[in-house]
Amino acid sequence: MKTLDALFNPRSIAIVGASRKPGKIGHEILRNLIEYGFSKKVYPVNPNAQEILGIKSYPIVKSIPDEVDMAIISVPAEKVLDAVKDCGEKGVKVLVVITSGFSEVGNEELERKLVELAHKYGMRVLGPNIFGVVYTPQRMNATFGPRDILPGSIAFITQSGALGIALMGWTILEEIGLSAIVSMGNMADIDVAEVSEYLADDPNTKVITIYLEGLKPGTGSRFLSVMRKVTMRKPVIVVKAGRSERGAAAAASHTGSLAGSDKVYDAAMKQAGILRALNVEEMFDWARAFALLPLPKGENTVIITNGGGAGVMATDAAEDYGVKLYDPPEDVKKKFRKYMPWFGSPKNPVDLTGMATPKEYYCAVKEALYEDRIHNIIVLYCRTAVCDPMELAKALVNAVREAKRDDIEKPITVAMIGGEDVAKAMKYLNRNGIPAYPIPERAVSAMSVLIRYARYLKQVREVKNV
Ligand code: ACO
Repeated sequence: MKTLDALFNPRSIAIVGASRKPGKIGHEILRNLIEYGFSKKVYPVNPNAQEILGIKSYPIVKSIPDEVDMAIISVPAEKVLDAVKDCGEKGVKVLVVITSGFSEVGNEELERKLVELAHKYGMRVLGPNIFGVVYTPQRMNATFGPRDILPGSIAFITQSGALGIALMGWTILEEIGLSAIVSMGNMADIDVAEVSEYLADDPNTKVITIYLEGLKPGTGSRFLSVMRKVTMRKPVIVVKAGRSERGAAAAASHTGSLAGSDKVYDAAMKQAGILRALNVEEMFDWARAFALLPLPKGENTVIITNGGGAGVMATDAAEDYGVKLYDPPEDVKKKFRKYMPWFGSPKNPVDLTGMATPKEYYCAVKEALYEDRIHNIIVLYCRTAVCDPMELAKALVNAVREAKRDDIEKPITVAMIGGEDVAKAMKYLNRNGIPAYPIPERAVSAMSVLIRYARYLKQVREVKNV
């Protein structure tokens, strides 16, 4: 069993401080575990209760007549050490310490004692000062955040609790599928590097996203050497907050970590193959693309659009993000010309014009999919009365599926600009394996990181072979 298996695949969980009162943190964690569908054993621990949410409660962990892999600690700070000792004597493997009141408020001594005591019994500690952990393949929602996390293949590690909890709700709204959510808090023991290393081997995770404020003093070089290995296995996207001087000072007082010089972080992350996003929206835009799409086999990218303006904006963005727009030779232009009126343009952007219907899009996209010299496709759509967005979405999904049956797989991102019916069509695309965004720049940006990551892997592999 790997060290962190007990954190992601526990066979049983005790909740120390499982309150009888709805609305209290320990109660809501227990409720989330049950209602989200965790199928293994769950044991509430509370000396003042007989039964909570219909489950027998135990006065202490030691009285549980079963092995306990994970214990979630949700009692006030002054009671934590006694609870840790109880867990240690029981043989618990990992502690998820929700409780606040440790190093984040200057109580380093208590935090040091917590880790020391846990290690004495061979236990590992996540936290303290966290909202918990989610692992969707096990239907485990051990948090006091929103319940119905959408399963998927994006792992999300967060150093900020409040932001993490807020983003849990946002991912549900945006239909972003997650494999894991890990709240790191004070990182007294288990840190971001160790969790990333574990998730690099997790078959249910395709991409790792991290909201990072800073690292503990002295852990920077280990972080980078671990991440260098992780990024060879899976893409890692980081939002590193505290970019400005004032932001760095705010980060230092938030989690007690060193935000450090942003330039140094930036260069180091680049070297380690980490993709740095500017904000969480960009991070999840990129993550969605990695979760759904194959990596590019080359750099030649075409834009297919029904609107000249959208095409121009996407062209600017391609320039900004280093996406190479392919100049189609005559024979390729001739193929595209079949699907546009005489006033369209078969150059790149391929402009099907406002007369395009889902059929023209379908045919042009299929040409691009089956053309070996084209590696990546960006489809843009401006809502017109002659092209129903849902019909277009279905046509695009069909084109991609048909190509796949012929063993042709290429990354394709889509931008759809319009109103309510366009939003529905984008949801359909996202649910059916094509990442869709509301503006061209976001579709180009998502494509650009796929290309950048593929380029990075190629470079590192070439260097290693030398
Ligand atoms: N073992 C087990 N249970 C016990 C024990 C014990 N030794 N002693 C008391 N309990 C029971 C209590 O009786 C209570 O149950 P009840 O409500 O049925 O009586 C339950 O455990 C909880 O104890 P309380 O004293 O009521 O503590 P409370 O729930 O108010 O607070 C908590 C505990 C949530 C851990 C609090 O101290 C704390 O740290 N809150 C902050 C948590 C947080 O925000 N973490 C960071 C998240 S990230 C973010 O920013 C969102």
